[in-house]
Amino acid sequence: MKRLFLLLLPLMGTLGAAAWSGDVSIETPNTMLILHAGEGQDLRMAYYGLRVTGLQELRNAGADLNSSALPAFGTVDMVGLPALQVLHADGDLNLELRVDNYEVKAESASKTHIFTMQDKLQPVTVKVFYKAYDGVDIIETWTEIVNAEKKAITLKRYDSGHLVMRQGDVWITHMHGNWAAEAEPTSEPLTGGVKTIRNTDGTRNAHLDAPEVMVSLDGRPQENSGRVIGAALCWSGNFELRFNTISHKEHHFYAGIDPQSSEYVLDPKQKFETPHLALTFSNEGLSGASRNFHRWARTEGMTHRGMKTGDILLNSWEGLYFDIDEARMIAMMDDISKFGGELFVMDDGWFGDKYPRKDDTSSLGDWVVDKNKLPGGLGVLTKAARERGIKFGIWIEPEMVNTKSELYEHHPEWVLQTKGRELKLGRGGTQLVLDMTNPEVQDFVFKIVDDLLTQNPEIAYIKWDANASIQNFGSLYLPKDRQQNLYVDYHLGLLKTLQRIRDKYPDIVIQDCASGGGRANYGLLPYFDEFWTSDNTDALQRVFIQWGTSLFFPANAMACHINHCPYWNTGGRVIPIKFRCDVAMSGRLGIELQPKDMTDEERQQTSTCMADYKQLRQVVQTGDLYRLISPYDHKGVSSLMYVDDSHRQGVLFVYKIDNYYDQPIPRIRLAGLNPDATYTLTEKNVRVSQKPCSLSGKRFTGRFLMEVGLELPLREEYASRVFFIEN
Ligand code: DGJ
Repeated sequence: MKRLFLLLLPLMGTLGAAAWSGDVSIETPNTMLILHAGEGQDLRMAYYGLRVTGLQELRNAGADLNSSALPAFGTVDMVGLPALQVLHADGDLNLELRVDNYEVKAESASKTHIFTMQDKLQPVTVKVFYKAYDGVDIIETWTEIVNAEKKAITLKRYDSGHLVMRQGDVWITHMHGNWAAEAEPTSEPLTGGVKTIRNTDGTRNAHLDAPEVMVSLDGRPQENSGRVIGAALCWSGNFELRFNTISHKEHHFYAGIDPQSSEYVLDPKQKFETPHLALTFSNEGLSGASRNFHRWARTEGMTHRGMKTGDILLNSWEGLYFDIDEARMIAMMDDISKFGGELFVMDDGWFGDKYPRKDDTSSLGDWVVDKNKLPGGLGVLTKAARERGIKFGIWIEPEMVNTKSELYEHHPEWVLQTKGRELKLGRGGTQLVLDMTNPEVQDFVFKIVDDLLTQNPEIAYIKWDANASIQNFGSLYLPKDRQQNLYVDYHLGLLKTLQRIRDKYPDIVIQDCASGGGRANYGLLPYFDEFWTSDNTDALQRVFIQWGTSLFFPANAMACHINHCPYWNTGGRVIPIKFRCDVAMSGRLGIELQPKDMTDEERQQTSTCMADYKQLRQVVQTGDLYRLISPYDHKGVSSLMYVDDSHRQGVLFVYKIDNYYDQPIPRIRLAGLNPDATYTLTEKNVRVSQKPCSLSGKRFTGRFLMEVGLELPLREEYASRVFFIEN
């Protein structure tokens, strides 16, 4: 699915149309959202959950059915928080919406329900969309605001969606984190007042706080039980998720673009489409909600990977950092092909003519090969890859520039800035963000990719990085009375450029990277195949980071690389190669080290791991995820498994994450299997110099595996096991 948000297109107002009333059930295979409107009323939300008979059943049960589906300031409930507020051209701050029209548009795998509302006084139209999928329990919602006034209006608040939840023991789980410590699930009960989760980085929105949240309706969040609503804002820029608890009856949830410094000016005859908010409901706990998101991601939410699996790759970054040269690149290609890998990615450090990229202080913007490092150009490298039977990939950071670059010398006006203010400099003391609102900059960014791919058609993979936030708020391109549109228009420009790239290069694999997992979001995934999960490749910490990331994102989106040890990011921690391989095998496998420095044992284990992964990867990358034991529960082990659609094959991962004497280790109880089928366990990626453990080759019923569970030999520190399970 390709989405281009925030389209600004001419449109006519619809003042004077007749009012609509009625009720509508919006359905997915297992869930239902019920909406209704009385004559002359705005749209009301009655229910979101598992399927019920309809509105009457709720009425009979005495449920409160009158919450606004999209509370607008001035319509109802002035003590609550608005999801929408408009400053009209004449200074009026109100909207009194009534539903004028309801229509349904059917597509091949979904139905979109469109409610058109009109302000009773001003010529402003608000459309609310709900797109329900036929095959997966996801409903996307978004709004469109049409300005038919004579002058510009200001969108002071323009959320994508709003949900009402019955009060109770309701908990939220959201991803908090940092660079190298992304996606730490933080769970807390909802109490009175307002809880806000937001990110104001400007370019990246998944470090610190991420634009997704799980809401557990039945008390403390459980992985495999309880009713859960999941929400992901499909947006790559600043966002705000809000929970407002003002009465004893309801929690109100709002999600949208953060309006702070972004009260959006909308010109006459223009319409503004908000990002989509993807919602799911599951009564199978957090894992159930995650599975719904993963299925949706595979079919709709990410670019063409779908059920396709990602290649096993070697990325040069942690092995060489900026120390790239032709001989080292070719040597690395030799190594990855000998291990059984399929792709080599040359990371940062390959470019710059006048200012060769030696470290992070220069050259961004000058996307020409550094002839000192690579005298034969990229052609020599793509040829070397071809000769070794592997693919070739390359790193770029197209939205950025260093002050020490030819690009900055020629186009200082292309960077985000405010005239007269001193520039605040980012990474390397010289990095700045290009002004993606400017069509000339958009063309330049498109051309970086276009030139690379037309001149080197064998490039099969691009790693697209973004290592700076917006520190200089200001655009020399946007008019002075449109500066507040910058945060939004930056991403509009980025998405437009990505769409252009996708239109011309639909097959190129592109990794979304932003200082690690800073851009793991559903705003960008429609244009990318995967993301770099974290700059922290320490396997123990990756158990935690990948766990949190998997709450919303599927395994084939998550790049997981084996690192070298001792590892600097975690103070020189040394983790056995077997554990490092097993952790990386639970996502899209790769390696991120200098193969020359590996021991024989590391080399052998890595080869075994890659060979075994090829047998498992279809199930891992496209199967259903069941998270079994959370590393955050401190039970000594963490465990997860994937099961294919037919429930005939599964892959189980178990990691020992604490180690002490007389340690109680729980039985590993599996999930997602057919209770009546008999499964054979085969241990995979067996530690070199060891035999498969005694459980390998044994047969068990699905019922036994799920009810009783396995006692796994996990004695030593960093013990880990991978099993293929087949019926
Ligand atoms: C940040 C990324 O997350 C790393 O993987 C690496 O590509 C560096 N940037 C290169 O500068």
